[in-house]
Amino acid sequence: ENGVIVAIDGPSGAGKSSLTKLLAKRLGYIHIDTGAMFRAVALSAKRAGIASDDDKGLAELCQGLEISFARDGETCRVLANGEDVSSEIRTEEIGLLTSTISARKPVRQALLEMQRRMGAKGGVILEGRDIGTVVFPDAEVKFFLSASAEERGRRRYLELAARGESATLEETIAKVIQRDRQDEGREHAPLKQAEDAVPIDSTSLSIEQVLELMERTVKERL
Ligand code: C5P
Repeated sequence: ENGVIVAIDGPSGAGKSSLTKLLAKRLGYIHIDTGAMFRAVALSAKRAGIASDDDKGLAELCQGLEISFARDGETCRVLANGEDVSSEIRTEEIGLLTSTISARKPVRQALLEMQRRMGAKGGVILEGRDIGTVVFPDAEVKFFLSASAEERGRRRYLELAARGESATLEETIAKVIQRDRQDEGREHAPLKQAEDAVPIDSTSLSIEQVLELMERTVKERL
């Protein structure tokens, strides 16, 4: 028994990454941060000077790009053709560019296939925007994790501050809202709650509270 597939989707800053890692640890599952994969594509496109509406260029880029994860104790590094891009993909600039590039069909197609291969064996938690709706519509457990835009902006702001990136709270909230709009409004695989997803609003819950709720839900379905 390899275990099931757990999908965690939701807007940026809802706490998906932290929770996915913690839940994976508790269940002894592998976690896959699909946002990091889209970010790696965006960074590579930027470096190669490929415009975000150049579908042909993006398709070729994806074909030659191998994205992998290197698990190193508690942390997980993201590799693009063997290069560790973990920190470089985390800037605000790459976040917004990723939201634009991830709307392109060839990019979605390439990563869809990669993600299905990575998750096929089960015993895995994938976090993203379209895992429960498109990548693994038959996932045994799906969560849709959200929080108010103000709260998500506040969390993101604290994260940036901790890394020494300068930004104001208002700016950060505005960017979170802009990114959600783009992700929800796109034609291919928009951010949306799957009908059979368990919705969790984390606005006034602690990480521990959400984690407990998720763990209980998964165990009920095993
Ligand atoms: O989760 P994260 O903020 O790292 O994701 C960055 C961007 O990647 C999102 O804003 C979204 O545009 C895109 N993304 C996506 N589908 C996923 C995961 C991320 O389109 N499954």
